[in-house]
Amino acid sequence: MLTKFKKILLSGNIPSGEGLNVRKNIMEEDRKFAQIWSKAQLIYWGYCLIMSFFDEAFTRCRGAYIMAVVLCLTALIFAEYIARKVPDLILFSAFLVDAAILGAGLWAARIQLQHDSLTVVMFLAVVLVPVFFVLPPGFNIGLLLTYDILAVFVLQGDINPQFYSSAISFLFISSSIGIVIGIYVNKTRVERFVFAEVIAKQKVQEKARVMFEQTTDALAGAIDAKDTYTNGHSRRVAKYSLEIARGAGKSEDECEKVYFAALLHDVGKIGVPIEILQKKSRLTDEEFEQIKQHPVKGGEILSVIKESPWLSIGARYHHERYDGKGYPEGLKGDEIPEIARIVSVADAYDAMTSIRSYRDPIPQDKVREQIVKGSGTQFDPVYARLMVHMIDVDTEYQMKERAKADESDINGILTTGAYREAVSAGIHISSSMTTIRMSISSDDEATGIAPIPSLILFDALDGKVHTDEKEIKDCLYFEYGEIWFDGRTVTGGARKMKSKVENTEADDIKHNGEYKIEAVRIDDHALIRIAGKAQTAEIIVALPDSSRFMYIALTGEHCRISDLSSVKAEEKCPDDYIPRIADKISYIKDAPTGDMPNIQIDGYRKAHSAGVPVKDGLTITFHAKCLPIARLVYHCPFIILYASDDGKVNGENARDLMLTRFDGECWEHDASCTAVTDVKQTEAFGNWDAWMKYNQAGYDTEVRFTVEDNKITVITENAGVSIRNTAVLSDMSQPIYAAITGDQVAVTNIRVQQA
Ligand SMILES: [Fe+2]
Repeated sequence: MLTKFKKILLSGNIPSGEGLNVRKNIMEEDRKFAQIWSKAQLIYWGYCLIMSFFDEAFTRCRGAYIMAVVLCLTALIFAEYIARKVPDLILFSAFLVDAAILGAGLWAARIQLQHDSLTVVMFLAVVLVPVFFVLPPGFNIGLLLTYDILAVFVLQGDINPQFYSSAISFLFISSSIGIVIGIYVNKTRVERFVFAEVIAKQKVQEKARVMFEQTTDALAGAIDAKDTYTNGHSRRVAKYSLEIARGAGKSEDECEKVYFAALLHDVGKIGVPIEILQKKSRLTDEEFEQIKQHPVKGGEILSVIKESPWLSIGARYHHERYDGKGYPEGLKGDEIPEIARIVSVADAYDAMTSIRSYRDPIPQDKVREQIVKGSGTQFDPVYARLMVHMIDVDTEYQMKERAKADESDINGILTTGAYREAVSAGIHISSSMTTIRMSISSDDEATGIAPIPSLILFDALDGKVHTDEKEIKDCLYFEYGEIWFDGRTVTGGARKMKSKVENTEADDIKHNGEYKIEAVRIDDHALIRIAGKAQTAEIIVALPDSSRFMYIALTGEHCRISDLSSVKAEEKCPDDYIPRIADKISYIKDAPTGDMPNIQIDGYRKAHSAGVPVKDGLTITFHAKCLPIARLVYHCPFIILYASDDGKVNGENARDLMLTRFDGECWEHDASCTAVTDVKQTEAFGNWDAWMKYNQAGYDTEVRFTVEDNKITVITENAGVSIRNTAVLSDMSQPIYAAITGDQVAVTNIRVQQA
């Protein structure tokens, strides 16, 4: 009890912020209540004192009344003094007032009762005094009031013993109830303190976190600003590292550490001369040595942040290699701190997919191959694998350096001059509708030559239109065609373009020269709607395939394009939104069909065969041939093992368990599955080029399944790549199925044989 009292009394020194405010408010309420009641008491005892001079009944208690009035006054003044001088002790002053009132009450009552009064007073003291330390003052006052009223009744009833004893019983019961209610009320009061404290602390922490976030981000921005060729590099590396950490199942706390370590991994570049960082030609050995110092410098800079040692670790070791051939320390395998192993993969990925001062970006699929090749040598295989998986699911190629033009050129004013003299940056068109608005006028006010705006449809690694031979090659530039705002088209690499022009008045276009372009691309078709004041042109484009990207760039002749804005809808358009103008190129139509329909898989897992329940001895045979657009080793068939209630891939309660690729890669998807991979290259394996040729030529293949308790093994061998992947399952509650899928491959003549 005493400790509790001490706690309450001393609590003024502990809390801060919000919690203190709430506590002060509660104390203030208590103080006001105690003040009102003590004033009321003062009036009551004052009244009794005055009456003692005029009324017989009051006279004999005059001494007690005087004492009560003095006690009340002293307590009031003293409490007020404490409340003003030491606001944290408001609660204490409230107690003081309360204690004085009780003392006065007991004193007066002792004299009023005049009958075995000491026993009663002692009894009341024993019951009531401890109550002080539990109850808020309001309750104590409530109890006292009851006691006072009873005392007066007893006095006026000429001490009727029966009445007296029932009065005491009543007092006892009401005290007990008061204590119970009081404990409860006080508990909620304490909870309010604690809750307010927690909230206050959270707010403080959140504030500090935001500040930390903003500071690190600003610092990362400063590093990137120094090296203009690595625009946004740190932020992207942080984003990819975070995703890898999440993929590896790290806790949110660990993920956050990885994120910030990655954000500041290149901080040491602050110490590298700007001429070296921005040098356009190849670096000399000496210059490279200087660049190689940045991990050490970064580690040193960040080592002063003692609270977050992982920041320094990330910076210092992100250039170590898994095989021990990295720098600065040449650490090997698990000796390299985990954070650095994660950052290293993300860093390499972004370095390759970004424009560098000494080279152009490398296409994403080539980067993927580099990471696969570097797995186990340059990179930790676990994190390399996760990075590769991120690339595979990045079907819209979002993970890259956004060409700066994406943000800046498009917002400025574009003056095209003669035909295609100036071209805007490309705007990526996806399955979510992009709406572009602009104003177009003549760029030659004097002659007033009419502007002829047009759009270029293309794909390029950097999202820009290229005319230079070398750039066309390096950036894999591919032009689908050009569209003029009046609906005319020129078909380039597209299979077909169909234009329809309607003379309709658009509601949301107010002036001549104002345009709205809506563009969407679904698989191998794109739709572009150009609305002007009086005319709308709708163009449907059949693209050569569904695996490339599509950008549109604004250009034309004598145009001054201004007020540009581009908004992408959140929602995806339905699959049948664009009416087809050309059949999907089919590589499976004329091929023989087996037990289930043939499948053409245009991109990563874009189609699946029907599911087959997996039983021991199951064999699936089929013919596989990669599509003409395929050009990488993993453009081959995959076998997906999954659990599902209705047997469908992505069906009811479906869970992907293990994915086996014919090139030997294997992925587990669910926590309930552990994949044990056994992949060998037999003598029949030549090299990966031979493997790709084998896939291009097409081949018959067989996949066998064995089931033993909770182990399902997938067995196949193709062009010397022998695979025996076992899924060890901890949850067999759902039926398990297998289906064929893949990436850029045609699968035909599928036959299923159950043992
Ligand atoms: Fe670095």
